[in-house]
Amino acid sequence: MIFLMDLQMMVLDVIYFIIRNSIRIVLRPRTKPIDGELVLITGAGGGLGQIFAQEFTKHGAEVVLWDINTSSNEQTAKLVREKGGKAYTYTVDVTDRHDVYRNAELVRRDLGRDVTMLVNNAGVVAGERMLDCPDEMIERSMKVNCHALFWTVKAFLPQMKAQNHGHIVTIASVLGLFSTACVEDYCASKFAAVGFHESLAHELLADEVDGVKTTLVCPYIVDTGMFSGCKIREEVEQFLLSPLDPQYCVEQAMNAILVDQPLVCIPRLTYLPFLSRALLPWESNVVTYRFMGSDKCMYPFIEARKQLLLNNSVKVE
Ligand SMILES: NC(=O)c1ccc[n+]([C@@H]2O[C@H](COP(=O)([O-])OP(=O)(O)OC[C@H]3O[C@@H](n4cnc5c(N)ncnc54)[C@H](O)[C@@H]3O)[C@@H](O)[C@H]2O)c1
Ligand SMILES: *[C@@H]1O[C@H](CO)[C@@H](O)[C@H](O)[C@H]1NC(C)=O
Repeated sequence: MIFLMDLQMMVLDVIYFIIRNSIRIVLRPRTKPIDGELVLITGAGGGLGQIFAQEFTKHGAEVVLWDINTSSNEQTAKLVREKGGKAYTYTVDVTDRHDVYRNAELVRRDLGRDVTMLVNNAGVVAGERMLDCPDEMIERSMKVNCHALFWTVKAFLPQMKAQNHGHIVTIASVLGLFSTACVEDYCASKFAAVGFHESLAHELLADEVDGVKTTLVCPYIVDTGMFSGCKIREEVEQFLLSPLDPQYCVEQAMNAILVDQPLVCIPRLTYLPFLSRALLPWESNVVTYRFMGSDKCMYPFIEARKQLLLNNSVKVE
C-alpha cells in the first residue's frame, strides 16, 4: 500500500518537474542574490574564466582567482578592479593536489572567510591525434579536466556542507555528453568531469545537503582560441551552430547558475545530439555526423595546432 502511494507520488512529482521546467524556459525564475558570496574561479586567466570573474563581480560577489599563469591571472584581477570589484589572485597548479590544499588554506587565512561558490573552469586539450600525442599531454588533460575537480572540491566542500550553503559549478563541455573524432583525451576527461559532477550532485541530495547547489555547464565550441580551426559543414555552421561568443556563453551559464539550474547546454540545440546519442542506433548518429560535417570537424583544428607548433619551434631556433 505504502509502495503504491510512493509510486503515485513519484509519478506526480516527475510530471510536476517536467511542467515546471518547461514553463521555466519561457518564464525565467527569479535569480538568487550573490552579493557577499566569495567565488573561487579556476583557470581565471583564460577566455571564459576572465569573463566569469567580471560577471560574478557585476552581481556583487568577490572573486578569488586561481590560474597557473600568473600574468594572465593578474590581467583578470585588473579588469575586475577596474569595474570596482574585489579580486584576490593565487598562482595555483590545480593538478597538484598539495598546491591546491596549500592555497585553499592560504585563501582561508588571507581572507578570514570561506569560499561559498566554486567554479571549476580550468581546462586543456591536447589537440593532437591520440597516436601522435605524447603520453604526458594525455595525462595533463585527465589531470586538469578531471582529477583537479576532486582536489578543489575536497578543499572547499567541507565548509559549504558545514554551513549548508554554497554552490559547485563545473564547466565541462558538450564533449562530455557526446563525442567526435580525434579528441580522445578531451572527451575522456570531460565525460569523467560530467560523471564526477553528477555523482556529487546526487550525493549532496541523498545526504540532504540541500543548501549546496550544483550546476553543470556544457558549452559547444566557444571562440576563445581553445578549439580554433575546428569546423563543421558550412551551411550547418552558418544557420544552426556557429561557435559561441565567449561573453554570450558566460551570460547563459550565469543565468543557469543564478537560478540554481542543475544542467545547462549552450546553445540549447546541443541537447539534441545528447538525446540522439542515447536514443538512436549508433549508425544513425554516424550518418548524422557525416551529414553535419561533425565527424571530421577536428581535422582542421589539429592541422592548425601542428602549424602553430611548427612556427613556434622555427622561431625558437
Ligand atoms: N573554448 C571552447 O571552445 C570550450 C568549449 C567547451 C568547454 N570549454 C571549457 O571551458 C573552460 C575554459 O575554457 P577557455 O576556452 O576559457 O580556455 P583557455 O585556454 O582560454 O583558459 C584556460 C585557463 O586555464 C588555465 N589552466 C590550465 N591548466 C591549469 C592548471 N594546471 N592549473 C591552473 N590553471 C590552469 C590556463 O592558464 C588558462 O588561463 C575549460 O574547462 C574548457 O574545457 C571550452
Ligand atoms: C600566460 O598568459 C599570457 C597572457 O595571456 C600569455 O602571453 C603567455 O603565453 C601565457 N604563458 C603561458 C606559459 O602559457
